[in-house]
Order: sequence, then C-alpha cells, then structure tokens
Amino acid sequence: MTNRGEDSFKKIIAHCKEYGFIFPSSEIYDGLSAVYDYGQNGAELKNNIREYWWKSMVQYHENIVGLDTAIFMHPKVWKASGHVDAFNDPLIDNKDSKKRYRADVLIEEYIGKLEEKIAKEVSKAAKRFGESFDAELFIETNPRVLENRKKIRDITERFVSALEQERLGDIKSLILELGIVCPVSGSRNWTDVRKFNLMFGTQMGSASDGSHQVYLRPETAQGIFVNYLNVQKTSRLKLPFGIAQTGKAFRNEIVARQFIFRMREFEQMEMQFFVRPGQEFEWFEYWKKERLRWLLALGIPAERFRLHKHEKLAHYANAAVDIEYDFPFGFKEIEGIHSRTDFDLGAHQQHSGKKLQYFDPEINESYVPYVVETSIGLDRMFLAIVSNAYREEKLPDGSERVVMNIPAALAPVKVAVLPLVKKDGLPEKGREVFNRLKYDFNCHYEDKDAIGRRYRRHDAIGTPYCITIDHQSLTDNTVTIRERDSMEQQRIPIEHIDKVVKQGIRLRPLPEAGS
Ligand code: GAP
Repeated sequence: MTNRGEDSFKKIIAHCKEYGFIFPSSEIYDGLSAVYDYGQNGAELKNNIREYWWKSMVQYHENIVGLDTAIFMHPKVWKASGHVDAFNDPLIDNKDSKKRYRADVLIEEYIGKLEEKIAKEVSKAAKRFGESFDAELFIETNPRVLENRKKIRDITERFVSALEQERLGDIKSLILELGIVCPVSGSRNWTDVRKFNLMFGTQMGSASDGSHQVYLRPETAQGIFVNYLNVQKTSRLKLPFGIAQTGKAFRNEIVARQFIFRMREFEQMEMQFFVRPGQEFEWFEYWKKERLRWLLALGIPAERFRLHKHEKLAHYANAAVDIEYDFPFGFKEIEGIHSRTDFDLGAHQQHSGKKLQYFDPEINESYVPYVVETSIGLDRMFLAIVSNAYREEKLPDGSERVVMNIPAALAPVKVAVLPLVKKDGLPEKGREVFNRLKYDFNCHYEDKDAIGRRYRRHDAIGTPYCITIDHQSLTDNTVTIRERDSMEQQRIPIEHIDKVVKQGIRLRPLPEAGS
C-alpha cells in the first residue's frame, strides 16, 4: 500500500480517530471547522516529535537556546512585522457552489497537473526504452514535455508578477484563461479576487476601561525577534547563534481542509539563526541540509521529500525553500527555510525606537544581525509520520493486521506488558515488570482479551515492543519480547528488557550536515 490517494487518506483519518490519535474538536457539538484535538496516543506522539525537535536544536547545538514566549504580543509587533498590511491571501469564490478558494492555490494545482503530465511522459518513455533511457535528454528534447514546460514557465511568470504587484484582476483573468473550474460545481463562474487578512483579532481589557485590539500570533517567530537582545545579553552568546521555540500559532485560513494539514490553530517549531550580514546564504545552505538530515533520520524514505525553491519571496526574505513531503494528497510543504535578512529586527528597531544591534568584536562593528529561519509545522510532521506509518498487512496465516510503523523513538507507547492469562499469578508478575519499566518508558499494562487481540491493538498504535508473561516467567524470570514490524519473538531475562528496548528505540545517528 502506498498511502496515496483519497481512499488511503480516509482510512488514515479514520484510524487516527479509532485509536485515540486525533478527534475533531468539540465533536459532541458536531465539531469546529479545521480545529482538532489530539487524543491519548496523539498527545504522546506529538510530545515525542516536539521533544525530538527541541533536543536536536537546543541540546545538540551549543549555540542554540530555547524560549517560550506569550501568544499575545503588543499589537505594534504585527504592524512592524508586516502582518497587519501584508499577511493576506488572494481569495476567490465560485458563484455556483458558493465555495471559497485561494486563487494562488488554484493556479498552483493547475501547474501541479502539468508537472504530473511531464512525469507520466517520462515514466512511459522509461518503460519503452528500458536501460538505454536517458531521462535528462528526453526532458530536453521531447516536444510534448517541452510544450508543457514552457506553459509552466509562462503561467508562473505571469502569476508571480501579478501577485507581487497585487494586480488581482490579472490573477482572475489567468484563472479564466486556463479554464480552471470549481472542483465542486465544475463551473467557471468566479467572483473577483479579493484579499483577506489571516490574523485572528480579539480585544484585551474591558471595553469600559479602553480595551485595545490584540492578535493571536500567526507565527511564533516574532516572540523570538522581540527577545533577541534579552537572550543575547543574558546568554552572552556570540554570533552566529540561534533561538528556538515551539508553540501555538493561529491563522484564519480561508480554505482549511485536508485534516490536520491546514488548521486554524496549529503548532510551529521555529528557530531563528542570527548571523553576520553577508553570511546568510552560507547558513541558509547549512540549515537546508541539516533540516533534511533531521527528517531523514526518522527512516522515512528520501523520495518522499523534495525541495521547492520559492519563486515569489515573502515580504521578509531574500531566499526561501520549502521542504515538501509526499502526503496522501500529493507533495506539499512541511517545513520552510527562509533567509529573512535584517527585515524583522530592523523593523522592530524602527517601530520600537530601541536599538537591536550586535557588536561584533571580530570586525569591531555594530550591526543588525541577519536571520536564517527554519520553521516546521508540528501537526504537518505528525501527519507525515502517521501517513507514512500506516500499513495494512496480510500475514502468512491468512489473517490481516493494521500496523503503524511509527519510528520507535517517537511511538506513543514503547512497551506493552501482557500477561498471557489473567490468573495463576501472571498478572502480579506482569505488574512487577510494568513497575520496573514505567520510570524509563511509556508502558501499558493489559490483561484483558486474547493475547492475539492485544498484539493487534498495540500494532495499531505502533507500540514497538510487547512483553508477554507466561507460566515459565514465574519459574525462571524470563519473558518473550515481540518486535512490532517483524513480529519475531525472543525469550529474554526480565533484567535484559530495559537494554533491548533502549537499544531498539534509539534513533540511528546520521553524518553531520555538509559531510
Ligand atoms: N515564521 C515563518 C512561517 O510561519 P510559514 O511557511 O507560513 O512560515 C511555517 O509556516 C510552517 O508552519 C509551514 O511549513 C507549515 O508546516 C506550518 N503551517 C503553516 N500554516 C499552517 C496551518 N494552517 N496548519 C498547519 N500547519 C501550518
């Protein structure tokens, strides 16, 4: 099973609900659009992903420290950052279906279809020509491929320049010319393109004592920028150094769909790396490699990731790349790496009137540092992991199982302790083993149902190890340990369990970035 396509995606969503990973928010009131809650297993998996990220940033890098800043910030922050004026999406409505779309996404999806056509031509030719096939030459010379590549270039050029110069009428014309139809009504009956600010606003203080407008932060990064000097002074870190933070962000997404891929309340894991101006491209390359390395360390196949260089740069960037993951609905952004120049610190310096500079003793100069940012959505990472992990397997005895092949280091439950039967002193022995392991690993103890059913339940939540206590355990202090993926069982002494599990849930080390 490739876990691609709508049917697979539906199964993954249903599985997440059935096994306590993700529930729709306020479900007893029929849910709240694009808001989700993490269940007992989801919360564990999410915590483990966050911890893996935090350790990789803060613990493994001498020159990165972590922060935890407030969701509410002074409203001037969002004026300075550009979010009040420029954090807009171009949206368009279909008059027949009354559905709303992001105009840029409609065009990007059209381009995506052209790219798929090219990929199909290439794979058809590869089959026809066999080993002698030269893909590069084919792409450079095949007339149909050339024609589609030219179309992509022309559309991209027009679209980027219209977006940059805010010619919303041109974006609508492009949608009409390309014959893009509403996926629901199938019609081309579009409204004009309008702009829509994505920030959620609310009031702080009561109206009578002069409340003022505040926003729910749309990114965690600004909490880092406004604390840059506090951290630099109190940590005495020298450039280059980084500040990391994880936390909730909020965006009033127009087209919030695809489960937890695009939500209105989500969590980011961001790191701002402060560097000397002129060194930003070197660090941009470094972090691009480092972030890919982090993703690949989880054992997800490399072909499931690809890089997408931004044609249209955000208002704060001089270089930007997305790492995309092959989700069940296609390749989409999971992480952004942006060279943000001195835009944010410079703007905060200007709006606050406070100097946000660094004195560089090596060159005897003060300047506003440049910043390279890495920003990954925790929920998107979660979705990538569960959609890669979901497997339906046929077993040699003809039975079937669903197993979540979650990287063992991130699995919600690491060990299940399962007495074979609920009598003869086996539950007591099981509790003894459970109490021994629970301080080091998240363990479950279960003595209900047949052992096969308990194995299946733990396969379905991705528990890497099941320990079975049987009558022999009472006489020689040994147990069987069953490994999730191979289903192989081994008899081992109770005192060896810690070592085997610890070894099994370690992440494999990877070469340093750049090597
Ligand atoms: N500070 C930079 C920044 O916020 P972004 O590309 O807008 O950049 C970074 O967001 C990451 O946050 C994305 O790569 C994605 O993983 C995640 N993200 C953004 N919007 C999201 C949403 N509505 N739902 C879930 N994750 C989202």
